[in-house]
Amino acid sequence: MCILVTGGAGFIGSNFILEWLSLCDEPVLNIDKLTYAGNLYNLASLAIDQRHTFVKLDISDYTVILKLLADHKVRAVVNFAAESHVDRSIHGPEDFIQTNIVGTFRLLEAMRTYWKGLADSEKTSFRFLHVSTDEVYGSLGVDAPPFREDNRYNPNSPYSASKASSDHLVHAYHHTYGLPALITNCSNNYGPYQFPEKLIPLSIHNALAGTPLPIYGDGQQIRDWLYVKDHCTAIQMVLKYGRVGETYNIGGAAEKANLEVVRTICDILDKENPKAGGGSYKEQIAFVKDRPGHDRRYAIDHGKIGREIGWEPTESFTTGIRKTVRWYLANQKWVAEVTSGAYLEWIEKHYIA
Ligand code: NAD
Ligand code: DAU
Repeated sequence: MCILVTGGAGFIGSNFILEWLSLCDEPVLNIDKLTYAGNLYNLASLAIDQRHTFVKLDISDYTVILKLLADHKVRAVVNFAAESHVDRSIHGPEDFIQTNIVGTFRLLEAMRTYWKGLADSEKTSFRFLHVSTDEVYGSLGVDAPPFREDNRYNPNSPYSASKASSDHLVHAYHHTYGLPALITNCSNNYGPYQFPEKLIPLSIHNALAGTPLPIYGDGQQIRDWLYVKDHCTAIQMVLKYGRVGETYNIGGAAEKANLEVVRTICDILDKENPKAGGGSYKEQIAFVKDRPGHDRRYAIDHGKIGREIGWEPTESFTTGIRKTVRWYLANQKWVAEVTSGAYLEWIEKHYIA
């Protein structure tokens, strides 16, 4: 038996696999298309580990996935594979529709066929866990209560609309066909191996490179931040203890305005890696044009997963962000490897052109 992880060469997927194999010996079959965001360097420590099998594959490939499911006797699936960057979805939504909607649909079809053919006991214990986002709920007012699982879906960007569609498909496959599926909706993750297109790694990278730290609009947009390892633990616990057909919100109880996040990163860097010529990294902060349709605030009520499953975040933003900055300082080689070629084209297109 083994678990199938899709998108396991990405940020959260690779953290999840590393964490999983540090805790147990159950093998992991990892399928990933290796888009610009997929990076096998993240899993270099597993290069000769027999418990990890990597297959370069699109989640839309029904036929190969069906064969892999049977060959590896997969007992559970965690679906991370997605196009995940909001700004890219604004520049070009097509890949988001293709992977997040059509890809999830094809993957679900493979699951349905495979699951139907399992023995009764295996059918009952099988799990399909779909990893989703808090962005499906839309934008919150300043004083509105945090998102709960029964909030109405109200996605605003092509990214969040495509994730909302995939959530609806997963729900429908449970409701209509009985597929034992669960959905998790998580807030903003940060930590090791995050591609430097997202706010936190981009800010650390630019600060060290001596380039501007771009803040969209007034920088007062609020996100809830969760250290990636806490997200991975939550997913493991939902896989084991979650009630089939249910949705669980996951968050860090750490609402911060973007400007505060970037200033905190600068404060840490000022101490850990003082600028050669003196002064603060804060001097590099630059206000730039706002993201079109920018959601103002997200916040998560993670009461349900706490009550039903006993999960709570272990890392505060203060401890998590310090660990993260230190990881990037210690892993400049990883950053250099992922910030060439296609990455530079993205920066040019989005920030400079
Ligand atoms: P990521 O962009 O770092 O990684 C995505 C991975 O999926 C990459 O390795 C990529 O190569 C792979 N992939 C893309 N299209 C594929 C396809 N068609 N077939 C197979 N593999 C494909 O994303 P992430 O930040 O690790 O996010 C993982 C999941 O978690 C996504 O579903 C995302 O929506 C969700 N999520 C992310 C966050 C966050 O803050 N990063 C928060 C909540 C939920
Ligand atoms: O909420 C969960 C979501 O968090 C995930 O579903 C997405 O996959 C993930 O990318 C993330 O989406 P965001 O749009 O919130 O993340 P991002 O890091 O792109 O931006 C965080 C905030 O910072 C957002 O308000 C936009 C702002 N920002 C971002 C960048 C890249 C800036 O001000 N400047 C920037 O250069």
